[in-house]
Amino acid sequence: MTAQRIGFNRTREGLLCDAVPVERIAKECGTPVYIYSASAIRDQYARLEEALGKLNHRLHYSVKANSNLAILKLLKELGAGVDIVSGGELYRALLAGFKGSDIVFSGVGKTEREMEEALRADVLLFNVESDQELQVLAEVAQRMNTRARVALRVNPEVMVDTPHPYTRTGGKGMKFGIAFDEALIVAAAALNLSSIELVGLDMHVGSQISQLAPYEAGLNRLLHLRTEIERSANVKLEYLDMGGGLAVSYESNDAMDVEAFGKGINTLLGDIGMRVLLEPGRFLVGNAGALVTRVLYRKRSGGKNFIITDAGMNDLLRPSHYNAYHRIEAVGQIGVGTIADVVGPVCESGDFFAIDRQVDDVVRGDLIAVHSAGAYGFVMASNYNSRPRPSEVLVDGSSYTVVTRRETYEDLVRAEQGGG
Ligand code: LLP
Repeated sequence: MTAQRIGFNRTREGLLCDAVPVERIAKECGTPVYIYSASAIRDQYARLEEALGKLNHRLHYSVKANSNLAILKLLKELGAGVDIVSGGELYRALLAGFKGSDIVFSGVGKTEREMEEALRADVLLFNVESDQELQVLAEVAQRMNTRARVALRVNPEVMVDTPHPYTRTGGKGMKFGIAFDEALIVAAAALNLSSIELVGLDMHVGSQISQLAPYEAGLNRLLHLRTEIERSANVKLEYLDMGGGLAVSYESNDAMDVEAFGKGINTLLGDIGMRVLLEPGRFLVGNAGALVTRVLYRKRSGGKNFIITDAGMNDLLRPSHYNAYHRIEAVGQIGVGTIADVVGPVCESGDFFAIDRQVDDVVRGDLIAVHSAGAYGFVMASNYNSRPRPSEVLVDGSSYTVVTRRETYEDLVRAEQGGG
Protein backbone atom coordinates (compact mmCIF):
# COMPACT_ATOMS: atom_id res chain seq x y z
CA MET A 1 0.00 0.00 0.00
CA THR A 2 1.35 3.42 -0.97
CA ALA A 3 1.58 6.22 1.54
CA GLN A 4 -1.41 8.54 1.56
CA ARG A 5 -0.92 11.48 -0.78
CA ILE A 6 -2.03 14.73 0.77
CA GLY A 7 -2.61 17.88 -1.27
CA PHE A 8 -0.69 18.73 -4.41
CA ASN A 9 2.20 16.39 -5.07
CA ARG A 10 4.23 15.31 -8.06
CA THR A 11 4.95 11.89 -9.53
CA ARG A 12 6.67 10.95 -12.75
CA GLU A 13 3.32 11.27 -14.53
CA GLY A 14 2.80 14.85 -13.43
CA LEU A 15 0.94 16.78 -10.79
CA LEU A 16 -1.59 15.04 -8.54
CA CYS A 17 -4.12 16.41 -6.09
CA ASP A 18 -4.22 13.78 -3.36
CA ALA A 19 -4.12 10.68 -5.58
CA VAL A 20 -5.96 12.14 -8.59
CA PRO A 21 -4.04 13.37 -11.67
CA VAL A 22 -4.76 17.06 -12.16
CA GLU A 23 -4.67 16.51 -15.91
CA ARG A 24 -7.57 14.07 -15.64
CA ILE A 25 -9.71 16.61 -13.78
CA ALA A 26 -8.89 19.31 -16.34
CA LYS A 27 -9.77 16.98 -19.20
CA GLU A 28 -13.04 15.90 -17.66
CA CYS A 29 -14.15 19.24 -16.20
CA GLY A 30 -12.53 21.77 -18.50
CA THR A 31 -10.49 24.81 -17.52
CA PRO A 32 -10.11 27.06 -15.68
CA VAL A 33 -10.96 24.97 -12.65
CA TYR A 34 -10.35 25.37 -8.94
CA ILE A 35 -9.18 22.11 -7.38
CA TYR A 36 -9.18 21.56 -3.61
CA SER A 37 -7.79 18.72 -1.54
CA ALA A 38 -10.06 17.55 1.29
CA SER A 39 -7.18 15.79 3.03
CA ALA A 40 -5.06 18.94 3.00
CA ILE A 41 -7.88 20.83 4.74
CA ARG A 42 -8.29 18.05 7.32
CA ASP A 43 -4.55 18.06 7.86
CA GLN A 44 -4.36 21.79 8.58
CA TYR A 45 -7.36 21.60 10.86
CA ALA A 46 -5.75 18.77 12.83
CA ARG A 47 -2.42 20.64 13.05
CA LEU A 48 -4.04 23.70 14.51
CA GLU A 49 -6.24 21.72 16.88
CA GLU A 50 -3.25 19.76 18.08
CA ALA A 51 -1.20 22.91 18.57
CA LEU A 52 -3.95 24.50 20.67
CA GLY A 53 -4.18 21.35 22.74
CA LYS A 54 -5.99 21.66 26.05
CA LEU A 55 -6.93 25.31 25.63
CA ASN A 56 -10.68 25.86 26.10
CA HIS A 57 -11.30 26.93 22.52
CA ARG A 58 -13.16 26.51 19.26
CA LEU A 59 -12.15 27.16 15.66
CA HIS A 60 -14.73 29.26 13.83
CA TYR A 61 -13.74 28.95 10.17
CA SER A 62 -13.85 32.29 8.44
CA VAL A 63 -16.32 31.60 5.65
CA LYS A 64 -15.12 34.49 3.49
CA ALA A 65 -11.92 32.59 2.64
CA ASN A 66 -13.79 29.90 0.73
CA SER A 67 -17.52 29.62 1.13
CA ASN A 68 -18.21 26.57 -1.02
CA LEU A 69 -20.92 24.45 0.64
CA ALA A 70 -18.90 21.26 0.30
CA ILE A 71 -15.98 22.86 2.12
CA LEU A 72 -18.28 24.22 4.81
CA LYS A 73 -19.70 20.73 5.29
CA LEU A 74 -16.22 19.25 5.49
CA LEU A 75 -15.24 21.72 8.18
CA LYS A 76 -18.47 21.11 10.03
CA GLU A 77 -17.71 17.40 10.12
CA LEU A 78 -14.34 18.24 11.64
CA GLY A 79 -16.07 20.11 14.45
CA ALA A 80 -15.54 23.70 13.37
CA GLY A 81 -17.91 26.56 13.92
CA VAL A 82 -17.98 29.49 11.50
CA ASP A 83 -17.26 33.20 11.40
CA ILE A 84 -19.55 35.03 8.98
CA VAL A 85 -19.69 38.61 7.71
CA SER A 86 -22.96 38.85 5.83
CA GLY A 87 -26.50 37.56 5.49
CA GLY A 88 -25.30 35.63 2.46
CA GLU A 89 -22.69 33.83 4.52
CA LEU A 90 -25.30 33.13 7.20
CA TYR A 91 -27.51 31.59 4.52
CA ARG A 92 -24.65 29.39 3.35
CA ALA A 93 -23.68 28.37 6.87
CA LEU A 94 -27.23 27.33 7.76
CA LEU A 95 -27.55 25.48 4.46
CA ALA A 96 -24.36 23.58 5.25
CA GLY A 97 -25.91 22.49 8.53
CA PHE A 98 -24.33 24.84 11.05
CA LYS A 99 -26.54 25.86 13.95
CA GLY A 100 -26.81 29.33 15.42
CA SER A 101 -24.63 28.25 18.32
CA ASP A 102 -21.84 27.48 15.82
CA ILE A 103 -21.87 30.96 14.33
CA VAL A 104 -20.16 34.24 15.17
CA PHE A 105 -21.22 37.26 13.13
CA SER A 106 -18.44 39.75 12.40
CA GLY A 107 -18.36 42.71 10.05
CA VAL A 108 -18.11 46.45 10.14
CA GLY A 109 -21.44 47.21 8.44
CA LYS A 110 -24.23 44.84 9.37
CA THR A 111 -27.66 45.85 8.10
CA GLU A 112 -30.84 45.62 10.16
CA ARG A 113 -32.05 42.85 7.91
CA GLU A 114 -28.86 40.88 8.53
CA MET A 115 -29.22 41.45 12.27
CA GLU A 116 -32.78 40.14 12.17
CA GLU A 117 -31.73 37.07 10.25
CA ALA A 118 -28.89 36.37 12.65
CA LEU A 119 -31.12 36.88 15.68
CA ARG A 120 -33.65 34.52 14.20
CA ALA A 121 -30.87 31.97 13.76
CA ASP A 122 -29.85 32.66 17.38
CA VAL A 123 -26.16 33.12 16.58
CA LEU A 124 -23.64 32.61 19.36
CA LEU A 125 -22.15 36.10 19.09
CA PHE A 126 -22.46 39.38 17.29
CA ASN A 127 -19.02 40.94 17.07
CA VAL A 128 -20.06 44.56 17.32
CA GLU A 129 -17.83 47.18 15.78
CA SER A 130 -19.26 50.54 16.82
CA ASP A 131 -21.49 52.26 19.36
CA GLN A 132 -24.05 53.01 16.67
CA GLU A 133 -24.16 49.39 15.56
CA LEU A 134 -24.72 48.39 19.19
CA GLN A 135 -27.68 50.76 19.49
CA VAL A 136 -29.24 49.50 16.26
CA LEU A 137 -28.73 45.88 17.26
CA ALA A 138 -30.37 46.63 20.62
CA GLU A 139 -33.39 48.14 18.83
CA VAL A 140 -33.69 45.23 16.43
CA ALA A 141 -33.44 42.68 19.26
CA GLN A 142 -35.99 44.64 21.30
CA ARG A 143 -38.37 44.67 18.36
CA MET A 144 -38.00 40.93 18.06
CA ASN A 145 -38.47 40.48 21.76
CA THR A 146 -35.13 38.79 22.19
CA ARG A 147 -31.58 39.50 23.41
CA ALA A 148 -28.44 39.65 21.32
CA ARG A 149 -25.26 38.11 22.67
CA VAL A 150 -22.50 40.58 21.97
CA ALA A 151 -18.73 40.65 21.93
CA LEU A 152 -17.15 44.03 21.37
CA ARG A 153 -14.69 43.99 18.51
CA VAL A 154 -12.00 46.27 19.76
CA ASN A 155 -9.30 47.69 17.58
CA PRO A 156 -6.19 46.39 19.35
CA GLU A 157 -4.16 49.14 17.68
CA VAL A 158 -1.37 46.76 16.84
CA MET A 159 0.32 47.62 13.57
CA VAL A 160 1.38 44.46 11.76
CA ASP A 161 3.62 44.27 8.79
CA THR A 162 1.40 42.12 6.57
CA PRO A 163 2.51 41.66 2.96
CA HIS A 164 0.04 44.20 1.61
CA PRO A 165 -1.54 47.28 3.25
CA TYR A 166 -5.01 46.07 2.24
CA THR A 167 -4.76 43.12 4.62
CA ARG A 168 -3.90 45.26 7.65
CA THR A 169 -6.88 45.70 9.90
CA GLY A 170 -5.78 46.15 13.52
CA GLY A 171 -3.87 49.42 13.25
CA LYS A 172 -4.96 52.65 14.90
CA GLY A 173 -7.24 54.70 12.68
CA MET A 174 -8.49 51.81 10.54
CA LYS A 175 -12.17 51.28 9.87
CA PHE A 176 -12.38 48.04 11.86
CA GLY A 177 -13.43 47.69 15.45
CA ILE A 178 -14.15 50.09 18.27
CA ALA A 179 -11.31 52.51 18.98
CA PHE A 180 -9.40 51.12 21.96
CA ASP A 181 -9.88 54.22 24.09
CA GLU A 182 -13.66 54.12 23.55
CA ALA A 183 -14.14 50.46 24.37
CA LEU A 184 -14.97 51.01 28.04
CA ILE A 185 -17.61 53.58 27.21
CA VAL A 186 -19.23 51.26 24.65
CA ALA A 187 -19.06 48.39 27.15
CA ALA A 188 -20.88 50.51 29.71
CA ALA A 189 -23.52 51.34 27.12
CA ALA A 190 -23.91 47.65 26.26
CA LEU A 191 -24.37 46.74 29.91
CA ASN A 192 -27.19 49.27 30.14
CA LEU A 193 -29.18 47.90 27.22
CA SER A 194 -31.75 45.33 28.25
CA SER A 195 -31.82 43.60 24.87
CA ILE A 196 -28.02 43.21 24.80
CA GLU A 197 -26.04 40.63 26.70
CA LEU A 198 -22.37 41.57 26.76
CA VAL A 199 -20.53 38.26 26.79
CA GLY A 200 -17.12 38.80 25.23
CA LEU A 201 -14.36 40.71 23.56
CA ASP A 202 -13.05 40.28 20.05
CA MET A 203 -10.18 41.43 17.86
CA HIS A 204 -8.67 40.70 14.48
CA VAL A 205 -5.13 41.94 14.01
CA GLY A 206 -4.81 41.32 10.28
CA SER A 207 -4.11 38.65 7.72
CA GLN A 208 -1.00 36.66 6.81
CA ILE A 209 0.54 37.09 10.26
CA SER A 210 3.51 34.83 10.82
CA GLN A 211 4.51 35.98 14.31
CA LEU A 212 3.00 35.39 17.71
CA ALA A 213 3.90 38.88 18.97
CA PRO A 214 1.01 40.86 17.39
CA TYR A 215 -1.50 38.38 18.86
CA GLU A 216 0.15 38.65 22.26
CA ALA A 217 0.11 42.42 22.12
CA GLY A 218 -3.55 42.54 21.07
CA LEU A 219 -4.68 39.88 23.54
CA ASN A 220 -2.91 41.59 26.42
CA ARG A 221 -4.83 44.74 25.63
CA LEU A 222 -8.10 42.78 25.49
CA LEU A 223 -7.36 41.05 28.79
CA HIS A 224 -6.71 44.42 30.35
CA LEU A 225 -10.09 45.63 29.09
CA ARG A 226 -11.77 42.51 30.39
CA THR A 227 -10.46 43.20 33.88
CA GLU A 228 -11.69 46.78 33.71
CA ILE A 229 -15.14 45.81 32.42
CA GLU A 230 -15.61 43.01 34.94
CA ARG A 231 -14.47 45.30 37.73
CA SER A 232 -16.82 48.11 36.68
CA ALA A 233 -19.93 45.96 36.69
CA ASN A 234 -21.08 42.69 38.08
CA VAL A 235 -20.45 40.82 34.86
CA LYS A 236 -18.37 37.90 33.69
CA LEU A 237 -17.17 37.90 30.11
CA GLU A 238 -17.22 34.39 28.72
CA TYR A 239 -15.72 34.65 25.24
CA LEU A 240 -12.40 35.92 23.95
CA ASP A 241 -12.39 35.92 20.16
CA MET A 242 -8.87 36.43 18.81
CA GLY A 243 -9.80 36.64 15.13
CA GLY A 244 -7.99 34.95 12.28
CA GLY A 245 -4.94 35.85 10.26
CA LEU A 246 -2.55 32.91 10.63
CA ALA A 247 -0.16 33.01 7.71
CA VAL A 248 0.40 30.22 5.23
CA SER A 249 3.37 29.95 2.93
CA TYR A 250 3.05 31.25 -0.60
CA GLU A 251 6.79 30.42 -0.80
CA SER A 252 7.78 34.08 -0.91
CA ASN A 253 7.03 34.52 2.79
CA ASP A 254 7.09 32.87 6.21
CA ALA A 255 4.18 30.76 7.40
CA MET A 256 2.98 30.86 10.98
CA ASP A 257 4.87 28.32 13.07
CA VAL A 258 1.66 26.85 14.36
CA GLU A 259 3.23 24.70 17.07
CA ALA A 260 5.00 27.74 18.56
CA PHE A 261 1.78 29.72 18.16
CA GLY A 262 -0.18 27.08 20.09
CA LYS A 263 2.37 27.05 22.88
CA GLY A 264 2.42 30.83 23.15
CA ILE A 265 -1.36 31.11 23.18
CA ASN A 266 -1.64 28.40 25.82
CA THR A 267 0.88 30.22 27.98
CA LEU A 268 -1.01 33.46 27.64
CA LEU A 269 -4.61 32.22 27.79
CA GLY A 270 -4.39 28.76 29.33
CA ASP A 271 -5.85 29.74 32.69
CA ILE A 272 -7.89 32.86 32.04
CA GLY A 273 -11.18 31.06 32.47
CA MET A 274 -12.66 32.22 29.16
CA ARG A 275 -13.62 30.31 26.04
CA VAL A 276 -11.20 31.27 23.31
CA LEU A 277 -12.47 31.54 19.75
CA LEU A 278 -10.25 31.67 16.66
CA GLU A 279 -11.38 32.64 13.18
CA PRO A 280 -8.85 31.12 10.81
CA GLY A 281 -9.69 31.25 7.12
CA ARG A 282 -6.64 31.07 4.90
CA PHE A 283 -4.75 28.79 7.28
CA LEU A 284 -7.28 26.01 6.78
CA VAL A 285 -7.85 26.22 3.04
CA GLY A 286 -5.20 28.41 1.38
CA ASN A 287 -2.71 25.78 0.39
CA ALA A 288 -5.35 23.13 -0.15
CA GLY A 289 -6.34 24.66 -3.49
CA ALA A 290 -4.97 25.52 -6.90
CA LEU A 291 -6.39 27.20 -9.95
CA VAL A 292 -5.68 25.08 -13.00
CA THR A 293 -5.66 26.83 -16.33
CA ARG A 294 -4.71 25.98 -19.90
CA VAL A 295 -2.17 27.88 -21.95
CA LEU A 296 -3.96 29.50 -24.87
CA TYR A 297 -1.03 31.21 -26.54
CA ARG A 298 2.61 32.13 -26.31
CA LYS A 299 3.96 35.31 -27.77
CA ARG A 300 6.88 37.69 -27.63
CA SER A 301 6.43 41.42 -27.45
CA GLY A 302 8.85 44.23 -26.56
CA GLY A 303 11.57 41.71 -25.83
CA LYS A 304 9.38 39.82 -23.34
CA ASN A 305 7.78 36.38 -23.27
CA PHE A 306 4.08 36.12 -22.60
CA ILE A 307 2.17 33.04 -21.57
CA ILE A 308 -1.53 33.69 -22.08
CA THR A 309 -3.86 31.47 -20.07
CA ASP A 310 -7.58 30.79 -20.16
CA ALA A 311 -7.92 32.02 -16.54
CA GLY A 312 -7.77 35.70 -15.79
CA MET A 313 -7.93 38.23 -12.99
CA ASN A 314 -11.68 37.72 -12.83
CA ASP A 315 -11.01 34.11 -11.76
CA LEU A 316 -8.14 34.83 -9.34
CA LEU A 317 -7.79 38.45 -8.34
CA ARG A 318 -5.02 38.27 -5.74
CA PRO A 319 -1.97 38.84 -7.99
CA SER A 320 -3.61 41.85 -9.58
CA HIS A 321 -5.23 43.29 -6.46
CA TYR A 322 -2.48 42.72 -3.86
CA ASN A 323 0.48 42.05 -6.12
CA ALA A 324 0.36 38.65 -4.42
CA TYR A 325 2.85 35.92 -5.25
CA HIS A 326 1.36 32.56 -6.26
CA ARG A 327 3.65 29.71 -7.24
CA ILE A 328 3.08 28.54 -10.79
CA GLU A 329 3.88 25.07 -12.02
CA ALA A 330 3.30 23.08 -15.19
CA VAL A 331 0.91 20.21 -14.60
CA GLY A 332 2.74 17.90 -17.00
CA GLN A 333 6.45 17.14 -17.16
CA ILE A 334 8.41 20.15 -18.37
CA GLY A 335 12.17 20.15 -18.12
CA VAL A 336 13.30 23.62 -19.04
CA GLY A 337 12.34 27.02 -17.77
CA THR A 338 11.88 30.44 -19.25
CA ILE A 339 11.31 33.95 -17.99
CA ALA A 340 7.85 35.16 -18.84
CA ASP A 341 4.78 37.12 -17.82
CA VAL A 342 1.86 34.79 -17.17
CA VAL A 343 -1.24 36.75 -18.11
CA GLY A 344 -4.97 36.25 -18.58
CA PRO A 345 -7.33 37.17 -21.40
CA VAL A 346 -9.04 40.08 -19.61
CA CYS A 347 -8.72 43.51 -21.20
CA GLU A 348 -6.66 45.05 -18.39
CA SER A 349 -2.90 45.46 -18.07
CA GLY A 350 -3.36 44.41 -14.44
CA ASP A 351 -4.56 40.99 -15.56
CA PHE A 352 -1.55 38.87 -14.61
CA PHE A 353 -0.55 35.92 -12.42
CA ALA A 354 3.21 36.54 -12.62
CA ILE A 355 5.51 39.16 -14.06
CA ASP A 356 9.06 38.42 -15.25
CA ARG A 357 8.93 35.07 -13.47
CA GLN A 358 11.10 32.01 -14.07
CA VAL A 359 8.45 29.45 -15.05
CA ASP A 360 8.18 26.12 -16.83
CA ASP A 361 8.50 26.55 -20.57
CA VAL A 362 4.92 25.61 -21.37
CA VAL A 363 3.40 25.71 -24.85
CA ARG A 364 -0.10 26.17 -26.23
CA GLY A 365 -2.38 23.48 -24.83
CA ASP A 366 -0.32 22.77 -21.69
CA LEU A 367 -1.87 23.04 -18.25
CA ILE A 368 -0.48 25.10 -15.42
CA ALA A 369 -1.40 25.19 -11.75
CA VAL A 370 -1.51 28.47 -9.88
CA HIS A 371 -0.97 27.32 -6.30
CA SER A 372 -2.21 28.53 -2.90
CA ALA A 373 -5.53 29.53 -4.43
CA GLY A 374 -7.78 27.78 -1.91
CA ALA A 375 -8.41 30.96 0.07
CA TYR A 376 -9.69 34.23 -1.42
CA GLY A 377 -9.66 32.66 -4.87
CA PHE A 378 -13.06 31.61 -6.17
CA VAL A 379 -14.83 33.78 -3.58
CA MET A 380 -13.30 36.89 -5.12
CA ALA A 381 -14.00 35.80 -8.70
CA SER A 382 -16.26 37.97 -10.83
CA ASN A 383 -17.92 37.92 -14.22
CA TYR A 384 -15.83 40.83 -15.52
CA ASN A 385 -15.58 40.76 -19.31
CA SER A 386 -18.72 38.55 -19.13
CA ARG A 387 -16.60 35.57 -18.30
CA PRO A 388 -18.52 32.71 -16.65
CA ARG A 389 -16.91 31.77 -13.35
CA PRO A 390 -14.93 28.51 -13.26
CA SER A 391 -15.98 25.25 -11.70
CA GLU A 392 -14.74 23.98 -8.35
CA VAL A 393 -13.70 20.42 -7.67
CA LEU A 394 -13.11 18.75 -4.32
CA VAL A 395 -10.70 15.84 -4.36
CA ASP A 396 -10.78 13.29 -1.58
CA GLY A 397 -8.18 10.56 -1.78
CA SER A 398 -8.55 8.85 -5.12
CA SER A 399 -11.83 10.41 -6.24
CA TYR A 400 -13.22 13.84 -6.88
CA THR A 401 -16.55 15.67 -6.96
CA VAL A 402 -17.55 18.75 -8.93
CA VAL A 403 -18.78 20.98 -6.12
CA THR A 404 -19.57 23.99 -8.32
CA ARG A 405 -20.49 23.61 -11.94
CA ARG A 406 -19.00 26.01 -14.42
CA GLU A 407 -21.27 28.98 -15.09
CA THR A 408 -23.01 29.25 -18.43
CA TYR A 409 -23.72 32.30 -20.56
CA GLU A 410 -27.32 32.07 -19.34
CA ASP A 411 -26.07 32.40 -15.76
CA LEU A 412 -24.43 35.68 -16.76
CA VAL A 413 -27.77 37.35 -17.50
CA ARG A 414 -30.02 35.40 -15.13
CA ALA A 415 -30.60 38.31 -12.74
CA GLU A 416 -31.00 40.91 -15.46
CA GLN A 417 -34.39 42.18 -16.53
CA GLY A 418 -35.59 43.98 -19.61
CA GLY A 419 -33.17 42.45 -22.07
CA GLY A 420 -34.22 39.61 -24.32
N1 LLP B 1 -11.84 37.29 11.06
C1 LLP B 1 -12.04 38.52 10.59
C2 LLP B 1 -12.82 39.47 11.39
C3 LLP B 1 -11.51 38.88 9.35
O1 LLP B 1 -11.70 40.12 8.89
C4 LLP B 1 -10.78 37.94 8.58
C5 LLP B 1 -10.24 38.28 7.28
C6 LLP B 1 -10.61 36.65 9.12
C7 LLP B 1 -11.15 36.35 10.37
C8 LLP B 1 -9.85 35.57 8.40
O2 LLP B 1 -8.56 35.93 8.12
P1 LLP B 1 -7.51 34.83 7.57
O3 LLP B 1 -7.33 33.82 8.66
O4 LLP B 1 -8.09 34.22 6.35
O5 LLP B 1 -6.30 35.62 7.30
N2 LLP B 1 -8.70 38.96 0.51
C9 LLP B 1 -7.46 39.07 1.27
C10 LLP B 1 -7.64 38.71 2.71
C11 LLP B 1 -8.67 39.57 3.41
C12 LLP B 1 -8.93 39.09 4.81
C13 LLP B 1 -10.05 39.83 5.41
N3 LLP B 1 -10.40 39.43 6.74
C14 LLP B 1 -6.42 38.18 0.60
O6 LLP B 1 -6.70 37.62 -0.45
O7 LLP B 1 -5.30 38.10 1.09
